Amino acid sequence: MRGRARKVSVAELAAAVRERAAGAGGRYLLGIAGPPGAGKSTLAHTLCAALNDGDTLAGVAPMDGYHLSNARLDELGRRAGKGEPDTFDSAGFAGNLARLRAAPVGEAVEWPTFDRALDEPTPAGTVFTGERIVITEGNYLLMDDPVLGAWHRVRGLLDECWYLDAERETLATRLTRRHRDGGRSEAAAREKVELSDLRNAELVARTRGRADLALRAEGDGYVVSES
Ligand SMILES: Nc1ncnc2c1ncn2[C@@H]1O[C@H](COP(=O)(O)OP(=O)(O)OP(=O)(O)O)[C@@H](O)[C@H]1O
Ligand SMILES: [Mg+2]
Repeated sequence: MRGRARKVSVAELAAAVRERAAGAGGRYLLGIAGPPGAGKSTLAHTLCAALNDGDTLAGVAPMDGYHLSNARLDELGRRAGKGEPDTFDSAGFAGNLARLRAAPVGEAVEWPTFDRALDEPTPAGTVFTGERIVITEGNYLLMDDPVLGAWHRVRGLLDECWYLDAERETLATRLTRRHRDGGRSEAAAREKVELSDLRNAELVARTRGRADLALRAEGDGYVVSES
């Protein structure tokens, strides 16, 4: 299958995940990695809804919940770099993923989410109990450089991990719009995209080879290539 690309719907992706998860013991962890603005959160939630057709089989555990607070970033002098690998609690993220794996299905595991309006994490924004499948999504799930915090511990905690990609221009347009919507001026939004987001995208692009599948949105589905 190496190198072959095919177009699939989210329902087909969900059916394949459901089958693989059914064959695994315990809770099944799927990762969706990719550059900022690629559509990871959108895919995670659409896939989750497709998996939860009638019952609660799956939930989403966003890496974004592990953003350091703005107060902590100010202490560290890293507010301007928000979104870069060292501005997250990577050890906390890896630790809670390990806990999700180890905890019996049915036992409550709290997970923080990220509030874009407040620009801060929400502790225990979601709680997992009976979900047999957890979709975790974020930029740095496939990083293997041990110098950059605990990100290198994440890949081994996931049963499978996808890489969602998009054209650089698409990323830049989406991210500039998001920063403007968040209150930045056009110039400040562009600067954040050029100096921070697209640099993170380049860092993340180097991790693509560690994914099981690479996906790209096309129309109402995704083009998938297996590695
Ligand atoms: N398949 C798609 N087709 C068109 N637009 C999309 C698609 N997927 C996502 N988008 C849009 O792109 C933007 C970014 O999507 P999303 O927030 O899911 O990206 P993300 O990868 O989670 O970004 P971040 O890394 O910043 O959290 C949103 O405005 C979303 O509506
Ligand atoms: Mg997101």
